Amino acid sequence: MRDYLLFYVNGQEHRVGGQDVFSPLSTYLRYGQGCTGTKVVCAEGDCGACTVLIGRAAGGTVEYMPVNSCIQFLYQLDCTHVVTIEGLKVEGKLNPVQEAMVDFHGAQCGYCTPGIVVALCSLFDCKTQADEQDVKDALTGNLCRCTGYEPIIRAGMNVALERVRSTGELYPPQEMIARFGEHQGRPALIASEGKTCFIPATVEEAVDFKEKNPGTVIVSGGTDVCVNINKRGLDPDVIMSLSNIAGLSDVKVENSHLVVGGRASLAALADWAREEMPELYKIMWLFGSPQIRNAGTLAGNIANGSPIADTLPWLFVMEAVVEMTGPAGKRLIDINSLYKGYKQLDMAPGEIITRILIPLPENNETIRLFKVSKRQNLDISAFAAAIRMTIEAGKIHSAKLAYGGVGPVVLRLPKTEAFLEGKEAALTTFGNAGKLAREEITPISDVRGSKDFRLQLAENIMLKFFLETACGREPVCR
Ligand SMILES: Cc1cc2nc3c(=O)[nH]c(=O)nc-3n(C[C@H](O)[C@H](O)[C@H](O)COP(=O)(O)OP(=O)(O)OC[C@H]3O[C@@H](n4cnc5c(N)ncnc54)[C@H](O)[C@@H]3O)c2cc1C
Ligand code: FES
Ligand code: FES
Repeated sequence: MRDYLLFYVNGQEHRVGGQDVFSPLSTYLRYGQGCTGTKVVCAEGDCGACTVLIGRAAGGTVEYMPVNSCIQFLYQLDCTHVVTIEGLKVEGKLNPVQEAMVDFHGAQCGYCTPGIVVALCSLFDCKTQADEQDVKDALTGNLCRCTGYEPIIRAGMNVALERVRSTGELYPPQEMIARFGEHQGRPALIASEGKTCFIPATVEEAVDFKEKNPGTVIVSGGTDVCVNINKRGLDPDVIMSLSNIAGLSDVKVENSHLVVGGRASLAALADWAREEMPELYKIMWLFGSPQIRNAGTLAGNIANGSPIADTLPWLFVMEAVVEMTGPAGKRLIDINSLYKGYKQLDMAPGEIITRILIPLPENNETIRLFKVSKRQNLDISAFAAAIRMTIEAGKIHSAKLAYGGVGPVVLRLPKTEAFLEGKEAALTTFGNAGKLAREEITPISDVRGSKDFRLQLAENIMLKFFLETACGREPVCR
């Protein structure tokens, strides 16, 4: 059993044990390594000032993606390569993204600038050309409060792409991959000053540890847990990071099901959905920011159990099945029976989510997903809905509805579903269904919206579905 983490920072190997293991990466970089180019503003994943690249071994190379270092703790980073703004220099000079930021006046106070440069470098790691929308998408998770976005976007669109060196070119991967290979298969247990962290290499090790340590807090992407640590006083004594468990990160289709591994990131799900299920992609594109989607997982969204979790209404109408693995083996549970109350899950203390199985829809089905939030991007839903129907020859054959943000858990609407089935797909039917939907929910007023606003959305969304799907004439199952 190892008692240290191994990772690289800007090409240098680091072996870390003791209290540092329990630090946010941004703290380790700024106060431990003098990498003060990484800034901290919000410490909760919202502003992107702390963006760094995290590289993980994949398919014989190291793949880099931007994440928020304020909500990545070191115990999540075993066997990774962290690249900061300081590490993106080319031959000791500004890189082409930095030059463009200078040439196009993309910075005033400069506090957001390192995060913006890192996010743009990541964009040009995977794209040899980028249009305005690509630049805007890459910067969704980066806020600037003094320059204004126009010069920053102009800088992003005027990078001398022929001179860009990818992160993989700056840091040849062979040595790192060999080092990660030596470590990844060996679990790590690190204890210091009353805190313990376990990093299992297999599901069996994870389950065994969780059973023996019932108070363990699981950390996967950390985009919920680490915000709770930074901002809500969560101070777990025992942590288990799932980041090194092999074989849980895939998103693939098997036996007419989409199978999402318990460690698969939201970004991997979005990548799959882009071509295969554009309706889901629409919602994934609105989920947090690239940094959040790169770190966060679908399993984390399910296990966190928020009634406004964006993937849940979709998973409810798809009748997804959650695979839990515990001391007694595997157990499958329909997501519609998983939640027992606000953030209360039917999950035994020794269990972890290992896979999510989502039956693929038939071609004659229509599925629509909706998210209502105060801002378009990087905002939590006030209300969310998924509507799945089969309409043939103008008649509704089956209807599945799930609403989020209208009660302590995401809700199916069985009375409205039963009302719709067998009815003519007409405006009056959907108008009446909307009125019935209001009666099936119990929203509250909070900072994101009033009770009345949510009731009205619950009613109106039925009409929106009817009008947007060309009155139910065109099935759009994906
Ligand atoms: C800035 C910001 C924006 C966000 N935007 C959105 C948004 O638009 N929509 C939205 O729905 N959410 C949003 N979130 C919330 C969060 O990103 C998601 O809930 C995400 O899916 C959590 O995944 P994770 O892997 O990071 O979970 P973690 O934080 O690692 O864990 C969350 C919970 O799940 C448990 N857990 C994790 N993995 C497992 C497992 N395999 N088995 C059992 N338990 C497990 C943990 O113990 C914890 O209780 C946002 C968060 C931030 C910080
Ligand atoms: S400091 Fe704002 S996202 Fe990290
Ligand atoms: S340059 Fe000041 S916040 Fe962006």
